[in-house]
Amino acid sequence: MNLEELAALHAKSLAEIEQAETPAALEQIRIRYLGRNGLLPAVMKQLKDVPADERPAFGRQANAWRQALDAALSTRGEALADSPAGTAPAFDSSLPGRWFATGAQHPVSRVIDEVTRIFGRLGFTVADGPDIETRFNNFTALNTAAHHPSMDAADTFWFDDDLLLRTQTSPVQIRVMLNHQPPVRIITPGRCYRRDTTDATHSANIHQIEGLYVDTRPVSLADLKATLATFAREMMGPGVGVRFRPHFFPFTEPSVEVDFSCHLCDGKGCRVCKQSGWIEIAGAGMVDPRVYRHVGYDPEKVYGFAFGMGVERIAMIRYGIADIRHLYENDLRFLTQFA
Ligand code: DAH
Repeated sequence: MNLEELAALHAKSLAEIEQAETPAALEQIRIRYLGRNGLLPAVMKQLKDVPADERPAFGRQANAWRQALDAALSTRGEALADSPAGTAPAFDSSLPGRWFATGAQHPVSRVIDEVTRIFGRLGFTVADGPDIETRFNNFTALNTAAHHPSMDAADTFWFDDDLLLRTQTSPVQIRVMLNHQPPVRIITPGRCYRRDTTDATHSANIHQIEGLYVDTRPVSLADLKATLATFAREMMGPGVGVRFRPHFFPFTEPSVEVDFSCHLCDGKGCRVCKQSGWIEIAGAGMVDPRVYRHVGYDPEKVYGFAFGMGVERIAMIRYGIADIRHLYENDLRFLTQFA
């Protein structure tokens, strides 16, 4: 080694010290240069091989290097100890945790799957229909008079005089009956669209599950009640209350609305059930003879009931969700609670 190489090593070592980021890295550098098997002791050992006339200069420079190393190491060591990174504890409990992106099924999908399983055990299969429907399937065949307010452009998204975004899953009943002879026993989960202003309990895009059972053997309102009461207990637990209220739908006669007791307050009354203890879950009834005529069934020969329930409503009481908008905001902190 000559003087020039020694000077280069000197400069390189100081640069490394300057760049050390942590006390541990600095210690590694100290060991590399000053440790028992380090570079400086190695240089000192070479001193005896240096030509005698150069030896004093070489020795002075090596000593200067040692002093420079000591000074730089202690300066950098103090700087690192003062900096936050240098003093940080190994575990900082105030830092946010590491986020594991485990997925979870959306509550709306969970309810649809659960409802499908329950009705599957009762002998219902799943039927499907398009979101874009005809006036005939969505209204006319369902015995909805041409002047009915639900057909108003203020309530329904129309594409033209005939096509619309379906306002209910009921048109799938029509599609199924047009293509199948009784007995039919189907449920149809799907999206529906209405010109509703969004608030805590309304949305322009909701999901419904329609059910239809038509047979050539007598089917009565008692069967409808038993079917929906069985469903309620399977879905909400044995303690759930079920209430049937007389109502009107153009496509059923008689018609009922079906309430479940509020799961959030156990029927005592809360904000979600508007203090009534009950939550409206479904519309239902015995299929109107006029609907059968529209699909070519003989009303004298068939019996049947139909129902349509709101999926979001069920999700809200099943999972204690007080605002329907949570279901559509795609906030993973909310959605992953339902894993
Ligand atoms: N389609 C109705 C609605 O959107 C719900 C409904 C009521 C469906 C009675 C039915 C039924 O099949 O029989 O409010």
